Amino acid sequence: MRAPPGEIMFPWLRRSHEMEIKPLDWAEFFGNDNPVELDIGCGRGLYTWKASEANPQINYLGIERDYKTARRAAGKLYKREIPNARIIAGDAREILDKLILNGSVHAAHFYFPDPWWKRKHKSRRLFTDDFADQIADVLQMGGILHSWTDVEDYFEVISALMKHHVQFETLPKPDEKTPEHDFDYQTSFERKKRKEGETIYRGRWKKINERHE
Ligand SMILES: C[S@@+](CC[C@H](N)C(=O)[O-])C[C@H]1O[C@@H](n2cnc3c(N)ncnc32)[C@H](O)[C@@H]1O
Repeated sequence: MRAPPGEIMFPWLRRSHEMEIKPLDWAEFFGNDNPVELDIGCGRGLYTWKASEANPQINYLGIERDYKTARRAAGKLYKREIPNARIIAGDAREILDKLILNGSVHAAHFYFPDPWWKRKHKSRRLFTDDFADQIADVLQMGGILHSWTDVEDYFEVISALMKHHVQFETLPKPDEKTPEHDFDYQTSFERKKRKEGETIYRGRWKKINERHE
């Protein structure tokens, strides 16, 4: 089943600006009470697709700002009628702020965020103190943030920021897996960068405190 051009692909694909501005009720959204994990900046959705097939007892929400890319991610789920994965097209910062209930998320995955290489563009990077606070807000206590990148200086910034964030503790980094086939990578970008011989920096952090104003 291929998504025809113009196909809306509801409920696999939604656009955030067409949704009611209120925190999602996950039980209503996914039709069950299973834990929810976010794939932020999910790109073409390899992680959302593979993880949702491998873990049917977990619900996955991919968030992607670029609508065409979000459609590609949703197409993978639509074609296979995957019940436990959905995509919302829109800006992750707005979606985290307006559509995700605080303390309602089991894990957040943030893989290969746009690096914005040029010095004058670095301020556009998504992973900032404010973003870490947003992640801390939406995670449940004990929830995990996973973030990988091939950009060493960005990973140093992320690691330093998370190390000093009072709501998180740093966990040991996950081991590198040897892929068995072309879809056996965490994400499309991991596949691309590993094939180019790049080093991948992998981090995991656990929420250990609630926010105290
Ligand atoms: C380098 S790609 C990585 C995609 C995927 N995570 C992977 O590893 O293959 C970064 C993705 O983040 C998306 N993105 C950038 N800023 C975003 C934002 N504010 N909200 C949601 N998605 C965003 C981009 O459109 C792009 O698809």
